[in-house]
Amino acid sequence: MKVLLIGGAGYVGSVLTEELLERGYSVKIFDRFYYGDKGIEKFRDRVEIIAGDMREMKPEILEEVGAVVNIGGLSNDPTAEYNPKANYEMNTLATKLSAELCKKAGVKRYVFASSCSIYDVGVKDEEKDIIFDETAKVSPKAAYSSSKYEAEKILLSMKDKDFSPVILRKGTIYGFSYRMRYDLVVNTFVKDALTKGYITPFYGGEMWRPLVDIRDVAKAYILCIEAEDEKVSGEIFNLVYRNFRISELALRVRSALKSIGIDIDIRPDYRYRGVRSYRVSGEKIKNRLGFIPAISVEESVIDMVEKIKKYNCMNFEDPVYYNIRWMRTLEKADQIIKITGKIF
Ligand SMILES: NC(=O)c1ccc[n+]([C@@H]2O[C@H](COP(=O)([O-])OP(=O)(O)OC[C@H]3O[C@@H](n4cnc5c(N)ncnc54)[C@H](O)[C@@H]3O)[C@@H](O)[C@H]2O)c1
Repeated sequence: MKVLLIGGAGYVGSVLTEELLERGYSVKIFDRFYYGDKGIEKFRDRVEIIAGDMREMKPEILEEVGAVVNIGGLSNDPTAEYNPKANYEMNTLATKLSAELCKKAGVKRYVFASSCSIYDVGVKDEEKDIIFDETAKVSPKAAYSSSKYEAEKILLSMKDKDFSPVILRKGTIYGFSYRMRYDLVVNTFVKDALTKGYITPFYGGEMWRPLVDIRDVAKAYILCIEAEDEKVSGEIFNLVYRNFRISELALRVRSALKSIGIDIDIRPDYRYRGVRSYRVSGEKIKNRLGFIPAISVEESVIDMVEKIKKYNCMNFEDPVYYNIRWMRTLEKADQIIKITGKIF
């Protein structure tokens, strides 16, 4: 079967592409290539690639496609807040467009990348600090989480006997990808450890965060593609290895690094910076699909250190590793190109 990955050249997409190919799937990648194509360079000759904007997706893109995974769009709070209009167009409206095209083309299974940040309750209200499952009432306010939530509602309302949307609300991801990101908490800790010799949990590390390894994420997507309709159609699944306080996470990263001979300090910053905090339950995906994320933070950190050296992702100052910095850089370049016509 051919799987279309919308946003397939991104951090998650690169790992998912590899996992799908290993399992014998054909892969078609439709991506705007904001962060270049380093993530899928290795598989270039084994995948079909279509460069384009998901806001202008055409029916032809679904030719020969048996299932769609939508992991495209703006993928964190800072980029969503930087351009809320583009964020809404990509994360919500383009999701609707692609789902409508799927329905017309008879592509039944559609898996959507949502986020546990939909559950964010902040750190100020202890009473709200509970473990949320998929039935919890949510009212996300931030541009990113509300765009995901709106998209979820649209997709679920489109469910029928010929269209099976599945929503994966993922915790914050950690781990190595050929398209690396250092703006995700564990990956940031590793980058800081290697560049500065210390890591800094904000707000004393008091906030909670559900976390999950990128290879477990890829496996969960494949399960959602393969599962019987009765189990997944119109369903929301949280995806989490464990919920951690960021302070505990810092200790775990430090001990993992120590085990490979890297000694670092933890230097908390106690200032309040409007941090996100939430805990979620991963029971539903376990009970319904038998899926239990297995890769620990420690294992992932050790693997990450080895691979960022091996695959030459050590130029930590390159803005391409940080989505918001990269978007700003692209905008600046765009303004100059509008004047000069070209760079050289
Ligand atoms: N990384 C995480 O911790 C995390 C957690 C929860 C949910 N998610 C969601 O999972 C998905 C994948 O995240 P990621 O970390 O791989 O993000 P990413 O930013 O690395 O990848 C997103 C990809 O989508 C592409 N894209 C963006 N806008 C596009 C457009 N208009 N048209 C076509 N392609 C476009 C980008 O070029 C990029 O390749 C996103 O939807 C994100 O919101 C990520």
